[in-house]
Amino acid sequence: MKVLGFESSCDETGVALVETRPDGPPRLLAEALHSQVALHAAYGGVVPELASRDHIRRVLPLARQVLADAGCTLVEVDLVAYTRGPGLAGALLVGAGVAVALAAALGKPALGVHHLEGHLLSPFLGDEAPAFPFVALLVSGGHTQLMQVEGVGRYVLLGETIDDAAGEAFDKSAKLLGLGYPGGPALARLADFGDPAAYALPRPLLHSANLDFSFAGLKTAVMTQARKLGPNICEQSRADLAASTQAAIVDVLVAKSLRALEASGHRRLVVAGGVGANLRLREQLDAGAARIGARVFYPPLALCTDNGAMIALAAALRLQHGLADGQCDGAFDVKPRWPLDEIAPIPQETTDA
Ligand code: KG4
Ligand code: ZN
Repeated sequence: MKVLGFESSCDETGVALVETRPDGPPRLLAEALHSQVALHAAYGGVVPELASRDHIRRVLPLARQVLADAGCTLVEVDLVAYTRGPGLAGALLVGAGVAVALAAALGKPALGVHHLEGHLLSPFLGDEAPAFPFVALLVSGGHTQLMQVEGVGRYVLLGETIDDAAGEAFDKSAKLLGLGYPGGPALARLADFGDPAAYALPRPLLHSANLDFSFAGLKTAVMTQARKLGPNICEQSRADLAASTQAAIVDVLVAKSLRALEASGHRRLVVAGGVGANLRLREQLDAGAARIGARVFYPPLALCTDNGAMIALAAALRLQHGLADGQCDGAFDVKPRWPLDEIAPIPQETTDA
């Protein structure tokens, strides 16, 4: 079965085609992505109205490109998937509208996918798929959550941020350092030249007994430090502050992830979402997990940030598990706010290995 997936929740238009396989996770046949980073850069952040308009411009050419790259025609598509939420309402409506209209025209079902479920299952597109159950660290621009994943569609929230997300902490700190949007990758690049121990920044909730996060205080500490250094801050101090900020965020993410593994007894950790592309985070998670006999699974680096492949994949996995009851009546709605643990619970056996 072939699944065509559309992602348009924020500032990337993603389209992908995957194919289910009887003997393994679905296979990616082709994918295409258009990033709006350049469009929003001048504004220092995503402008929702511009995002929606650009999705409209890009989505059909990208779909044509994906089908051509896969050597497929539309009539071969069995299911059309789209990001139903969470995200920007207008942006979500573009992908949802196109997907539901296409499905109706083809006489095939459409399926609205949870964006975070897409991120969470994206390591199944990697070389080695993790077996269920596992703990997942979801670290994107809007979310920082630890989830216990029993199977496809079976997610239990273990802890989450009580204020800013990890990606937001990267982005806001980057802004304070005069780096462009999106700040995470830029801050990570600058941090390579700095000393992570140069500035003592707080590690909020590091020693709290629960699995929650808090990053708002860190941003304030970075602001205070940046003000102290003043507008004529030298390149080395900027790099040192970037490295210290990255180290503070990474330390907390690693400590809480390892604690979640220990508390749940699971030995597999999946890391997904844009911040999962951070190499320092990957290094420290790998080392920490190895110390307690656990393993970490990541999506391919290019699929950490938003993309269509993860949406097509999540829909294909739902299809394989008999959970792809789409909205075949041509009706659609989007859910700009949609907690992942509010996905309807699924009565399904786990497939632990
Ligand atoms: O998952 P994603 O593409 O979009 C959302 O669903 O939010 O995540 C975007 C976030 C941004 O905050 C971006 O700065 C951050 O991921 N990010 C990074 C890196 N690459 C992307 N943060 C730190 N290091 C990176 N290499
Ligand atoms: Zn995302």
